[in-house]
Amino acid sequence: MLADDPAANLIEIQDLHYSRGDKKIFSGLDMNIPRGKVTAILGPSGTGKTTLLNLIVGQLNPDQGAVLFDGRIVCPCSRHHLYEVRRQIGVLFQEGALLTNLSVFENVAFPLREHTDLPEQLIRQIVLMKLQAVGLRTAWQHMPSQLSGGMSRRVALARALVMDPKLIVYDEPFVGLDPISMGVIVRLIRQTNDVLGITSIVVTHDVEQTRKLADLSYLISGKKVAACGTPDELRNDQSALVRQFMQGRADGPVPFHHPGPDYAEQLRTMARS
Ligand SMILES: Nc1ncnc2c1ncn2[C@@H]1O[C@H](COP(=O)(O)OP(=O)(O)OP(=O)(O)O)[C@@H](O)[C@H]1O
Ligand SMILES: [Mg+2]
Repeated sequence: MLADDPAANLIEIQDLHYSRGDKKIFSGLDMNIPRGKVTAILGPSGTGKTTLLNLIVGQLNPDQGAVLFDGRIVCPCSRHHLYEVRRQIGVLFQEGALLTNLSVFENVAFPLREHTDLPEQLIRQIVLMKLQAVGLRTAWQHMPSQLSGGMSRRVALARALVMDPKLIVYDEPFVGLDPISMGVIVRLIRQTNDVLGITSIVVTHDVEQTRKLADLSYLISGKKVAACGTPDELRNDQSALVRQFMQGRADGPVPFHHPGPDYAEQLRTMARS
């Protein structure tokens, strides 16, 4: 597979360790993101998917190991290099918020105004082009409160695209969408990737949409990569963990309860305090 050829990978994550306080989130995670492809990162809630995205874009520093973007280490690195890396990444956050006091047009124009000194005429052309690409050019004057959830996400995509990134990162892009809006977003993610020749990472719980969209999928569990393959390979994987996740079963190796003391012990401790 592409994965072992460095030139074929836009991102390489090597032996990544990361903790929050005394809680270990990653312990020896290795992952390659192939150039030009859509890669899905799947995993149960709380396994660290959003944290991993933050490590990839350099918002967080690994405790050990490295994240390489285009062959160069993201963190630690100079502020200048980090800025250069971030300019090449478009992000659709899980909380996905548009700036509520700005119009659709101004939301999309925002990164251009922050990072460039392009003349107004050019900003106007770029913003309208990106809005056209997501089918919302005519909604340019709307305020975010006038948009549906699916429309907001498309505006956020236009905003993520406005700096012509090499990589787009989507955190849970399907949550809360009706089936039609979901289909629109799946198609947009795929088309954006292929038409612009960029690389995409989609973090999601949604196994069904992943099958339609991704070239490669990683399943994260137990602080590292638990499985990797095409969506079909993952679907046919026989390990209990992969089957539990792919088939959405409540019972299996992934526990329902957040780790901690047992119930009786907690009741005793709370009664004493
Ligand atoms: N700012 C923070 N401070 C402390 N702990 C955090 C913080 N953010 C996340 N965590 C912890 O890190 C772990 C991973 O969180 P993360 O948000 O990356 O999970 P996730 O896989 O994205 O979950 P979900 O699928 O629910 O979005 C969780 O146990 C969470 O409690
Ligand atoms: Mg998350």
